[in-house]
Amino acid sequence: MITLIAAIGEGTRALGRHGDLLYKIPEDLARFRARTKGHPVVMGRKTWESLPDRARPLPKRANIVITRDASYGAPGAVVVTSIEDAFRKAKDAEGADEIFVIGGGEIYALALPYADRLDLTLVDDDTEGDAYFPEYEREFTKEISREEHETPEGLKYAWVNFERT
Ligand SMILES: NC(=O)c1ccc[n+]([C@@H]2O[C@H](COP(=O)([O-])OP(=O)(O)OC[C@H]3O[C@@H](n4cnc5c(N)ncnc54)[C@H](OP(=O)(O)O)[C@@H]3O)[C@@H](O)[C@H]2O)c1
Repeated sequence: MITLIAAIGEGTRALGRHGDLLYKIPEDLARFRARTKGHPVVMGRKTWESLPDRARPLPKRANIVITRDASYGAPGAVVVTSIEDAFRKAKDAEGADEIFVIGGGEIYALALPYADRLDLTLVDDDTEGDAYFPEYEREFTKEISREEHETPEGLKYAWVNFERT
């Protein structure tokens, strides 16, 4: 199964700005770690570079980085030059029963046609960014779970799982 996991503005689908995450909700980052640990994670070169040094590669997960530069060095990760190659490598890795695509905007757009499930954190906020999750609402209409939460600062968000219609 291929799952796209992202934290986005509920109405805007914005997910990043200036090379960084738009939303850093500690409970959500902890859930991301718990959900993806033990499974391969597929990401774009820009998302790889956005990870803090201490978290690169993301531990206990096969890290697969997509770039058009076949000579790109990403120590601790597997470098590939297409989304199809990324999934081929991921299928050979530990925990391949669920492969997570972890961003960013360009890679979510490439991966969406292959996705079985979306694991979205929908944040009740309308801040715009410079990286966006692709339009998914027409293809992924089947909401299979929803958990509503609020940060101590009063920011509302929901963990929502969608399956392809
Ligand atoms: N909210 C969230 O859940 C979340 C998750 C992840 C990331 N983010 C944020 O998203 C932003 C980064 O997203 P982004 O869209 O700018 O970049 P990205 O998707 O992380 O990476 C883009 C790079 O992927 C490579 N690429 C794209 N299409 C390709 C193709 N068809 N074939 C081969 N390689 C290809 C290119 O690398 P080369 O230029 O090296 O060729 C391109 O520059 C950051 O702000 C980050 O913090 C947010």
